[in-house]
Amino acid sequence: MPYAHITGWGMSIPHKVLTNEDLSKIVDTNDEWIRERTGIRQRYIAAEGDTSSSLGVDAAFKAIMLAGILPSDLDLIICSTSTPEHIFPATACLIQDKLGASNAGAFDLSAACSGFIYALNMGAQAIRSGSVKNVLVIGTETLSRFVDWTDRNTCILFGDGAGAFILQASEKPGGVQGVVMHSDGSGGEYLSVPAGGSAHPASEFTVQNGMHFIHMDGKEVFRFATRVMAQATQEAVAKSGWKIEDVSLIVPHQANSRIIEAAARGLKLPIDKFMINVDRYGNTSTASIPIATIEAIQTNRLKPGDKVIFVGFGAGLTWGALAAEWSGPLPSEHLLSAEWYKPWARVRSVYRRIMRVLEGLFFDRDA
Ligand code: UT7
Repeated sequence: MPYAHITGWGMSIPHKVLTNEDLSKIVDTNDEWIRERTGIRQRYIAAEGDTSSSLGVDAAFKAIMLAGILPSDLDLIICSTSTPEHIFPATACLIQDKLGASNAGAFDLSAACSGFIYALNMGAQAIRSGSVKNVLVIGTETLSRFVDWTDRNTCILFGDGAGAFILQASEKPGGVQGVVMHSDGSGGEYLSVPAGGSAHPASEFTVQNGMHFIHMDGKEVFRFATRVMAQATQEAVAKSGWKIEDVSLIVPHQANSRIIEAAARGLKLPIDKFMINVDRYGNTSTASIPIATIEAIQTNRLKPGDKVIFVGFGAGLTWGALAAEWSGPLPSEHLLSAEWYKPWARVRSVYRRIMRVLEGLFFDRDA
């Protein structure tokens, strides 16, 4: 049975910074309150032209290049997002087209802030089953488009960004190990975007009542999060046959530094075992774990051979944890970099659109 190794990674962050000071000019809040209650100092906000797929593609190209593969090597693209560009088509398909990933299946996965853990597990299991070899897993969000900028309970928390991992099959032991995924839909109302789906399609009423924005009962989510983070970590450690002392680094979902501190207390671990960067990015939902992981690599806190735990919670309610032995790139078979693929992917997309129009004009008109 092949192992699923994490062999490439990349992130994409919009340029525009929104500080707590900036927010205090929009709603009744202040830097001290936000820092003390959440640990957040600033977050990044998507520019008009940025979308969940454009951030996702940027992160994905970096991951593909690091892994030393080509977009055409991908068998599967899983895009975890709570801010898809449309109900359909899937954002994963938009990304597939922009990458020129001509051999990949593509789908979106909706598990909110736990989504990256769910998506990594789905990709890893597809590799473990032997059905695919190369999987791109993306977590991408443009939450700023769903935030009510008059609601101080939520608008201070969220930020935009994307992160991507490449998973590759190898006979060498390592990579993704024990994983747990949990859900409890009875708590669904604590964190939701009530309208825009089939329960409440867009109408004048839904728009006037702000039902397309993020609604949250912060206290309930906080209570739930502090309960499940340590528990899920312990489950993933046990499933991997490890001891908690074996773990080099825990990369938690970045929602609130107080939640991470509670998890550290619950696990009786020092806080420096945890990667924390919520201060600079805010809560980027499903993108927060890959972004924090990449910063851990860049600051030398995560190295090949290390045992790492990813743990998250979010709307649904969902939560989960994934244990991995950190790998790094496998030897590449390609002499060419994926860089040259960028213009080619654009040409390919235009070509396919033209061919579709021509096929419609000349063939099968009456079929
Ligand atoms: O990915 C999952 C996403 N969600 C989360 O992780 C959210 C989890 N929850 C939390 O992080 C925290 O509950 C919050 C940061 C959202 C709120 O912190 P809290 O310590 O639970 O504050 P609170 O809601 O109990 O509010 C305390 C006070 C209230 O005033 P009163 O009623 O005591 O006078 C709020 O009205 O703080 C007030 N408040 C604010 N004050 C200044 C609430 N938001 C703000 C604000 N600035 N932005």
